[in-house]
Amino acid sequence: MIKVLIKNGTVVDPSQGIVDKIDLLIEGDRIKRLDYEIFEPEAQVIDASGLIVAPGFVDLHVHFRDPGQTYKEDILSGSKCAVAGGFTTVVAMPNTNPPIDSPHVARYVSAQGKCWGLCDVLPAGTITVGRKGEELSDFYALKEAGCVCFTDDGSPVQRTDIMQKALIFSSELGVPIMNHCEDDLLSQGSVTEGYLSALTGLKSRYPEAEETMIARDCVLAYRTGGHLHVQHLTTGFGVELIRFFKEKGVKVTCEVNPYHLLLDEGTMLSEGPLARVNPPLRKKEDVLALREALREGVIDCVATDHAPHAPYEKGLIDSSLPGMIGLQTALPIMLKLVEEEVISLVRMVDLMSCAPAKIIGLEVGTLKEGSPADVVIFDPKKEWVLNEETNFSKSKNTPLWGKPLKGKVIYTLKGGRIVYKENS
Ligand code: NCD
Ligand code: ZN
Repeated sequence: MIKVLIKNGTVVDPSQGIVDKIDLLIEGDRIKRLDYEIFEPEAQVIDASGLIVAPGFVDLHVHFRDPGQTYKEDILSGSKCAVAGGFTTVVAMPNTNPPIDSPHVARYVSAQGKCWGLCDVLPAGTITVGRKGEELSDFYALKEAGCVCFTDDGSPVQRTDIMQKALIFSSELGVPIMNHCEDDLLSQGSVTEGYLSALTGLKSRYPEAEETMIARDCVLAYRTGGHLHVQHLTTGFGVELIRFFKEKGVKVTCEVNPYHLLLDEGTMLSEGPLARVNPPLRKKEDVLALREALREGVIDCVATDHAPHAPYEKGLIDSSLPGMIGLQTALPIMLKLVEEEVISLVRMVDLMSCAPAKIIGLEVGTLKEGSPADVVIFDPKKEWVLNEETNFSKSKNTPLWGKPLKGKVIYTLKGGRIVYKENS
């Protein structure tokens, strides 16, 4: 069996409470041993001096546009971005064409991921047929075909009765229902309601579009016992609502997009359509509230919402498609929060690996002996720029394009195999 020995790095594994300079031995596709000064003459050695060794990151929210819009991204280019960003497992959103509302599309997505063999690409099934919000998908068949959760992301579920039924199925199947919480009638525009919409005259998206739907869905989770996962949370009051329902014992988890922890609505003035995303960048006080909630633990995990678009789809703010690519920028953004002492490095790894793995019940997100050898090795200090040479996406839509970043993945291992090595 092939052996890989990662030496001289600092292992950070929140699942075991480890932050220590120890070696990590991999045998085949599993973690064999974590110990001081491991000697194994047959192993291929990776020198991780000055680097952090952590369980591979898990992203619960990516758009790989495959099938249907592969000019923006496909499962191969998306997987390359993922491993370059340190992610070894991603959950592919179902707003593809056709959508992931049938077992054969779900099987296509996971089989493509397996065929390229860089990272696991786990399909999210739709909540409703065609993402139309009217008729529930066949959850049993989709789960059987490998779907790890259900969501109509991009088209929030407007009907309360549909959401109620979905959560009933969730409690029966033990699979989370994820919702992009925004009420359509209160989110017709492109910027957050307030100063920016008044200044620019652009149509707005109200924070209460998000907050009312979070409250509705939490009430439904409370009544049904289903597991609700709130996608890309953006407002301070949304945090308050989730805290309230968690304290009541409701099965609710939530994710935040790193960009919402870094940028506020003002970015729109300098970056224009590149700063357009749904839900939109919010106010400074919301960014601060999200950061506080990360530290406290009200926010469960980080998810990139990697949303590639072609340049011509990012023309004018009001007509541009929302979303930013994010798989390669997530680590530098999160490390900035560590540097600013918003969160610890251990908490960061938890948010990007252990916690998201737990939300969908995976056995990854840990370096425990016997678990899958999914490992990221990164240099928290290395400075770099996302540009034509370093970008693996087919798209370039991020306000961080060409800007200095700090923190870079040096190796990513999936099931014991090196699937990414910097500059190779
Ligand atoms: C996403 C996309 O482009 O598919 N865009 C976005 O602004 N977040 C859809 C979504 O996640 O809602
Ligand atoms: Zn969404």
